[in-house]
Amino acid sequence: MNATAAPGDSTGDIREARTTASPATGPAVDEKPVFSVRNLWKVFGPKAERVPGGPLADLPPDALRERTGCTVAVRDVSFDVRPGECFVVMGLSGSGKSTLVRCLTRLIEPTAGTIAIDGEDVGGMDKGALRDLRRHRAAMVFQHFGLLPHRTVLDNVAYGLEIQGVGKAERRAKAGEMVAKVGLAGMEGRRPGQLSGGQQQRVGLARALAADPEVLLFDEPFSALDPLIRRDMQEEVVRLHRDEGRTMVFITHDLSEALRVGDRIALMRGGRVVQCGTPEEIVGSPADDYVRDFVRDVPREQVLTVRRAMRPAHDAGEAATGPALSPATTVADAIEAVARTGCSARVVDAGRCLGVVDSTSLLGVVAGLESTPSKSTPPNSTPSMGGFEEKTAA
Ligand SMILES: Nc1ncnc2c1ncn2[C@@H]1O[C@H](COP(=O)(O)OP(=O)(O)OP(=O)(O)O)[C@@H](O)[C@H]1O
Ligand SMILES: [Mg+2]
Repeated sequence: MNATAAPGDSTGDIREARTTASPATGPAVDEKPVFSVRNLWKVFGPKAERVPGGPLADLPPDALRERTGCTVAVRDVSFDVRPGECFVVMGLSGSGKSTLVRCLTRLIEPTAGTIAIDGEDVGGMDKGALRDLRRHRAAMVFQHFGLLPHRTVLDNVAYGLEIQGVGKAERRAKAGEMVAKVGLAGMEGRRPGQLSGGQQQRVGLARALAADPEVLLFDEPFSALDPLIRRDMQEEVVRLHRDEGRTMVFITHDLSEALRVGDRIALMRGGRVVQCGTPEEIVGSPADDYVRDFVRDVPREQVLTVRRAMRPAHDAGEAATGPALSPATTVADAIEAVARTGCSARVVDAGRCLGVVDSTSLLGVVAGLESTPSKSTPPNSTPSMGGFEEKTAA
């Protein structure tokens, strides 16, 4: 797959689900982060610890492998996951996404850097604390759910609670609740083999939810599903996120999925995070040519909002007339409003007119002519590897 093929997975309107993805207030920017990751490295191979930060780290991947037998999977990555947000990690195959998410709970041991959950150092956790972290605080949903084939749906969902030592009646009640929550009521007695792929994914999701974790970690959970079922499951995640405000880290290589579910997206390439920002920042202000190419085929009007299109009102009259739009209105919706009324529209926040959009300013955004500076994280350090291929490790 090349970079520009990523949006081709699109199975529908990005805007429709995006507008429901974030809780009304959005993720809490000022609250203490759930996960805090600083200068994280994962190097696979012998004596991996000599690579981070040293001259070896600057070698091209092939040369590094030839000289040392090492592969850098995650390279000096830093980010925070805020409470209640859906933080998406996106990138092509081999860019380091799975390695990164597994490092969060030390399913893979990081080579360098720090990870904290609620301010607590994950690196310093002993076996018991790590078990508790994985069972109670950060539940992982994998691409292949690994359901137990001889157990019923209900018992599969209750399994996590069983190993937590929860009593039978309580765990079955809780499991039943979760099965209903993911839309499988009535199927409690079936076995995984009697379910469709999408239904099996729902069981996996219910199982992760049953532990009531603070964070859900998803590693490409829907990539094996056909597009329509996949869309269904994305909506399920968006709904759970919206209704429960649960913090999520969601890995995907599919840009349309990232835009649909993500509050913020970290785009990885060759182990680095090349840009981290809201969908609007990534699409509207790509940090470099790589990101620009990645988002080239995204329908801008469905992701960008009127904040990017607005201009100051010419006079008090213009600031007081025309339809009022919230700052979160997509350009697509604003075009409709302006076309319907035939006049400019006001962008209003808490009763205050922030600016005005008209057909010229809106079309300017669609055409990519607006110039709003990016607030997203710039590429971290040196330029990344050439080419689009990420599968450089043997
Ligand atoms: N156990 C390992 N030993 C050596 N190299 C590894 C190991 N696991 C992963 N890698 C390498 O690390 C890099 C990142 O792999 P990772 O699985 O994190 O990528 P990914 O972005 O999840 O890809 P995909 O989309 O295919 O799942 C790749 O170059 C991969 O070959
Ligand atoms: Mg992976």
